[in-house]
Amino acid sequence: MEVRIFKNDLEIGEAAGKIICDFVNSKPDCVLGFATGASPVPTYNYITEQYNSGKVSFKNVTTFNLDEYCDLPRDHKNSYWTFMFENLFSRVDVDPAKVNFLDGNADEKAESARYAEAIKSKGGIDIQILGIGRNGHIAFNEPSDKFTDEAWRVTLTQSTIDANSIYFDDIPIPHYAMTMGIGSIMRSKKIILIATGASKAEAVKEMINGPVTPGCPASILQQHADTVILLDEAAASLL
Ligand code: F6R
Repeated sequence: MEVRIFKNDLEIGEAAGKIICDFVNSKPDCVLGFATGASPVPTYNYITEQYNSGKVSFKNVTTFNLDEYCDLPRDHKNSYWTFMFENLFSRVDVDPAKVNFLDGNADEKAESARYAEAIKSKGGIDIQILGIGRNGHIAFNEPSDKFTDEAWRVTLTQSTIDANSIYFDDIPIPHYAMTMGIGSIMRSKKIILIATGASKAEAVKEMINGPVTPGCPASILQQHADTVILLDEAAASLL
């Protein structure tokens, strides 16, 4: 794990965005894994600026997102599909036909197999962006007693429901999601994890300095060969 500490989220967005844009320029048909939530938004803004300045094109890039709520139509304003189109995909030249998402309303086993095959058929994910939950989750792999492998249907914990319910004003937040498993994430060739703010400090400490345990799913990243952790000072405050 390489840990880098920055003054603020804009600097993190620039650092992560540069890694991604440089990689896309070196391999225009690469495979990128994206996360939703607040953490990657400055990165997506940086990428959009680079695209607007003509410095990068995503037209041949294939994308896979980490997770999607169950029991929510894909075009609902709170779906992660909508999030990605609003925050990145519709702002750059990503080909919608090359965008891949888990279907939170599909049969769990069939959907898991479909996603695994789709990732494999593209040669795997070159760079996967991650955030981290206050409870140490990555994607929606909540703390548990075992590490998962391929995509699965998870029951969200109260911590995640509390953190994400601020985005839901018209309907209650779903309590289930389809998420890439830990194995699928770990097979990514490079991982960039972004964490900002004091509310992430404890999880960040456990991820980096704690034992590797499914009780803190992000701790598995200690065993990944090419992971870079980008933190602001508040998220790094307990290291
Ligand atoms: C989102 C995801 C989650 C978030 C995490 C942090 O696709 O997989 O693991 O990355 O919950 O969310 P934010 O960035 O909103 O603090």
